[in-house]
Amino acid sequence: YEIMPSLVGSEMCIRDSDIVVNGLKRLEYRGYDSAGVIVEGGDNNFELKKTKGKVADLVSISKDLEGTAHVGMGHTRWATHGVPSDRNSHPHLSNNGKIAIIHNGIIENYDTIKTMLIEKGFTFASDTDTEVLVNLIQYVMDTQNVDFPTAVRYALNEVYGAYAITVMHKDHPGLLVVGRLGSPLAIGIGEDEYFVASDASPFVEFTKEAIYLEDGHMATISLEKGIEIRAIVDNSVVIPEVQELKLSLEQIEKGGYEHFMLKEIFEQPKSIHDTMRGRLLVDEGIIKMAGIWDYLDKFTKAERIIIVACGTSWHAGLIGEYLIEEFARIPVEVEYASEFRYRNPIITNKDIVIAISQSGETADTMAAIKLAKERGAFIFGICNVVDSSISRFSDAGAYTHAGPEIGVASTKAFTAQLTILSLLALKLGKHNGNLSNVDFMRLITELDAIPKKIEDVLASTHDYVKNMAKDFVSASNFLYLGRGYNFPAALEGALKLKEISYIHAEGYPAAEMKHGPIALIDENMPIVIIAPRKGHYDKIVSNVQEIKARKGKVISIVNKGDEQVSAMSDYVIEIPETSECFSPIVASIPLQILAYYIAVYRGVNVDQPRNLAKSVTVE
Ligand code: M6R
Repeated sequence: YEIMPSLVGSEMCIRDSDIVVNGLKRLEYRGYDSAGVIVEGGDNNFELKKTKGKVADLVSISKDLEGTAHVGMGHTRWATHGVPSDRNSHPHLSNNGKIAIIHNGIIENYDTIKTMLIEKGFTFASDTDTEVLVNLIQYVMDTQNVDFPTAVRYALNEVYGAYAITVMHKDHPGLLVVGRLGSPLAIGIGEDEYFVASDASPFVEFTKEAIYLEDGHMATISLEKGIEIRAIVDNSVVIPEVQELKLSLEQIEKGGYEHFMLKEIFEQPKSIHDTMRGRLLVDEGIIKMAGIWDYLDKFTKAERIIIVACGTSWHAGLIGEYLIEEFARIPVEVEYASEFRYRNPIITNKDIVIAISQSGETADTMAAIKLAKERGAFIFGICNVVDSSISRFSDAGAYTHAGPEIGVASTKAFTAQLTILSLLALKLGKHNGNLSNVDFMRLITELDAIPKKIEDVLASTHDYVKNMAKDFVSASNFLYLGRGYNFPAALEGALKLKEISYIHAEGYPAAEMKHGPIALIDENMPIVIIAPRKGHYDKIVSNVQEIKARKGKVISIVNKGDEQVSAMSDYVIEIPETSECFSPIVASIPLQILAYYIAVYRGVNVDQPRNLAKSVTVE
């Protein structure tokens, strides 16, 4: 699973600051265990540099690339087949050295094809599935007397799995052949140059016009002939839709923060406000959501809503279940997308499946909604990335509008997802009559106040949490506890900590503690307990007592002025009070800050934690 920017341009200067390598820096958040770049040098030669490690390592070894080029492509990798190493890095070359490929995805039948190619005399320098594909293209050209783009097309018809690929051929200077199935691929249209990348971030400063290639399509791109798109299956011509990019450069830069994650934590008052903008109209007493306008009755008549998602988005889904069941009284089930698709679930055309995904590209979530659609369900997508695969595949949906999230640990996308789910639940509850007008007005007024409360919580807790984080740098385990709406918030707090600090952390419903995890508690065990006043407070007081009786170290998240839990806590983080159903949005902020600073003090690369990638486009 890998990422690539490539370029067809009028004249490209090959320097460490060149467009391709800078583009890789922008995409590095999506995968970062090795990197490579290839350009057309003089005399139709390829100049190739690749290395295990980060794009910064590639920069240092590609300084001696010289001259100018018209076509180049680069790649930053998250290993699927073969360990991160120089030889497994992309680009990969065909046996005759004429064809170069970069690839994001997995070729699932690579083994069978590799065996066939080995029988035909091909050799392999890497363990990757990608090298099999590039040699298959060579084999097709060698044996079937077809031109380069046709050979790519024939080869793609032989593979299954997921891919976004870019291919160059030495004998076809100035030409890129690209194709996609399952993995995203955007083509930027500049004045006298074209760009190809997994998302638009590498080329946003050069053009605002882009084409998002559809699944099953391929394109040839050259200055001479422009962009020609065809269906991989039958070569039929496709008329592309050119879109205007809304992304700005500022949105994808750090803006003075040390890490994207910290920037994104601090963006939350704005991102939540943006999520509600034009939708939550308190003065008019309405919630307007274009995405469900035509489907309100479908929603209210649904026998069941199934939420599918992964990771943080799955945690948001759990809170969505509480919200929708409480306010709209529609039964909800929340499923890990990866489990759902493989367990032959019962789905009918009376079900609505909500897919939640920041990236909109998560392979497991995509596969889950494909299955659900096949079985007749209506698909509603909640995505952050505009025009992502899941958003386009859905029958209807709502964007979170949190802006680009670059830090691998999801922060502002999570709170934006909770905001959308709150809007959806309240809208449905109002529409189907389960929520009285008085309650509806009270809740939307509360929701409207959340961005300001987040501003307050950032201002009032940041320094305190930053300071207390020092005391936990050497911790080996953490427990996170919450009840009701804040149980999923506890799961999310634990996920944040483990993914960026590598400290083992578990989230639990507070009352479940006594059924097992309590055995772990001693004076070395930090326990984060989310205990807002509204939400089973008395029960939580008892849970804290049980922890203190075993000498656990309590970090409590309580409302301002709290007395009981605070009195028993070793560390007290105060947050403003809100309705119970919105409290996970507010409580998540100090949990994000805590995870962030513990990871910073441990010297971890917060934005690019080991083994992870921002969008997981493989199963
Ligand atoms: O893009 P998605 O929301 O579909 O991604 C799902 C998970 O991969 C993602 O939430 C992951 O768990 C994050 N690293 C969490 O911070």
